[in-house]
Amino acid sequence: MDPARVPTHVAIIMDGNGRWALSRGLPRLAGHRAGVENLRRIITACVEFGVKHFTIYAFSTENWGRPREEVDGLMFILNEVLDRELEELNRQGVQLRHIGRLEGLLPSIQKKVRQAIERTRANDRLILNVAFNYGGRDEIVHAIRQMLADGLQPDAVDADLVSRYLFTAGQPDPDLIIRTAGELRVSNFLLWQGAYAEYYAADVYWPDFDKEQFRLALEHFGRRERRFGLVSAQLKPKAVPDAASGN
Ligand code: IPE
Ligand code: IPE
Ligand code: MG
Repeated sequence: MDPARVPTHVAIIMDGNGRWALSRGLPRLAGHRAGVENLRRIITACVEFGVKHFTIYAFSTENWGRPREEVDGLMFILNEVLDRELEELNRQGVQLRHIGRLEGLLPSIQKKVRQAIERTRANDRLILNVAFNYGGRDEIVHAIRQMLADGLQPDAVDADLVSRYLFTAGQPDPDLIIRTAGELRVSNFLLWQGAYAEYYAADVYWPDFDKEQFRLALEHFGRRERRFGLVSAQLKPKAVPDAASGN
């Protein structure tokens, strides 16, 4: 893959764990476990392909409304993953971050998340943003409240400032947002940051979204023309010399 065409920031709506499990006659939680296994593979692929920021949608502010057993199961899995995967992430040079409302989680999990963030702070091969108890609207509400609490005057507010009040402050916007399991909706994910993201829908459930599927998504991204509201003629020519020019 041409490194110049690899997106800097990839985000994934990891959808379809429940359907993956049901299609095998398994309980939904088995799908979430398979989803975590897959996540490990895709993180490794991100490092390999040279992606620098990777944001994963793991639990939305709306997911609290699921049956109690499933919510508890997802919290249990998060807890377990933090214990089990941290050293491997650290070894791979992954810096862990959290986006969303940490304070809505159990105190013991909050503590673990904070420790994991601290432990991986110096890593710089890949920044992994875990969106857990995350909602795009909630993030914007949170930002507005902070701005008001900071006593900002109306004239001081512009798009850059809003970005700096979001959970992703300081990071580039996602270039590519992938959603697995075929659904064509945003489901409250990165509403602000995704303004000019390229979207890609994969037709497989998240546990089946393997490295090859990921490569296809990145290649697809590499062939798209991002115009940001302009017209083609205004855009910089591609870095790759084209065959017709004879160079
Ligand atoms: C995504 O898979 C993971 C979470 C939302 C936690 P789902 O659990 O939404 O799986 P489906 O969409 O029901 O198949
Ligand atoms: C989005 O998936 C949230 C996560 C992947 C964590 P959902 O399954 O919750 O979204 P809807 O309900 O299909 O829109
Ligand atoms: Mg779903």
